[in-house]
Amino acid sequence: MSRPYANAASRVSSRPSSEAVTPPVVEGPADVRARVRAWRAAGECVALVPTMGDLHTGHLALVDAARERADRVVASVFVNPLQFGPGEDYQDYPRRLEDDAARLGEHGADIVFAPTVETLYPRGTDVSVRVHVPAFEDILCGADRPGHFAGVATVVAKLFNIAEPDIAVFGQKDYQQLLLIRRLVADLDFPIDVVGIPTVRERDGVAMSSRNGYMDSEQRRAAPALYAALRGLAARLVHGERDYARMERDACSELEGAGLQPDYVAIRMADDLALPPADAAVDDLRILAAARLGRARLIDNIAPI
Ligand code: PAJ
Repeated sequence: MSRPYANAASRVSSRPSSEAVTPPVVEGPADVRARVRAWRAAGECVALVPTMGDLHTGHLALVDAARERADRVVASVFVNPLQFGPGEDYQDYPRRLEDDAARLGEHGADIVFAPTVETLYPRGTDVSVRVHVPAFEDILCGADRPGHFAGVATVVAKLFNIAEPDIAVFGQKDYQQLLLIRRLVADLDFPIDVVGIPTVRERDGVAMSSRNGYMDSEQRRAAPALYAALRGLAARLVHGERDYARMERDACSELEGAGLQPDYVAIRMADDLALPPADAAVDDLRILAAARLGRARLIDNIAPI
């Protein structure tokens, strides 16, 4: 991109948070595209932050990162039916657009793109074109949630085509999603710079998530076990241990002991999630896990160092 950082500093100083206003909430793709094209025609760099709303500090860190890197920030809020499986929480997913828009304004978003399902999928979700990213969609979380990542890739490709951003910001919290989107961008030649932001955690280590609210207080007390298990594996990897299968089994037992039901614990290559060789360098690894705790399905991942 020729324009990153163009006028970012002046815009940060030109709008102190005390003057924050709720940004326009735009429903139509043509409206978003027209606004973005006008900004880009004026030489401004545009960042997109896709979300499903119910925003927490983790999401807002992405908006802050977008503000630092671009002149204009488009945040999208859309609970995408295509990425939810049968029996998942699509109907129950928290929707609070008004609060979200206000918070996005406090963090300097210029517009909020909040389309309806009918706008994004006018011919129905069943017959919508699907974007597949075979290298990433059937493993780890994809194995437990068939169709999920094709739903993510499809909506993100649509958002990229509608908003035409220079930069798109995603969280490392959803590490597999981040790699999938990087591959989507590479393989479909989107001229977009994908930025990955570190996971924002609660004080006890639990990764912030819109789904944490599904836990009752006892489950919430058990939740830090997931991050603790990842940290435990990181320490063993740093000490040179390389029996990945054994370490993964140990971590699963630890999670079960804490009352969680692990879907997987996996030590993988950080760049493509392949199974690592026995002599992998510790910096090349990533540790990922998903576990159920009551109604909540928690996911987390870390680099060993
Ligand atoms: P959602 O779960 O709302 O997350 C939106 C973005 O926030 C994602 O990039 C996610 O990785 C990031 N995020 C969530 N929790 C975070 C945390 N604790 N720290 C840092 N970043 C965090 O991910 C989705 O929505 C959807 O799949 C989407 C990409 C919007 C497509 O529908």
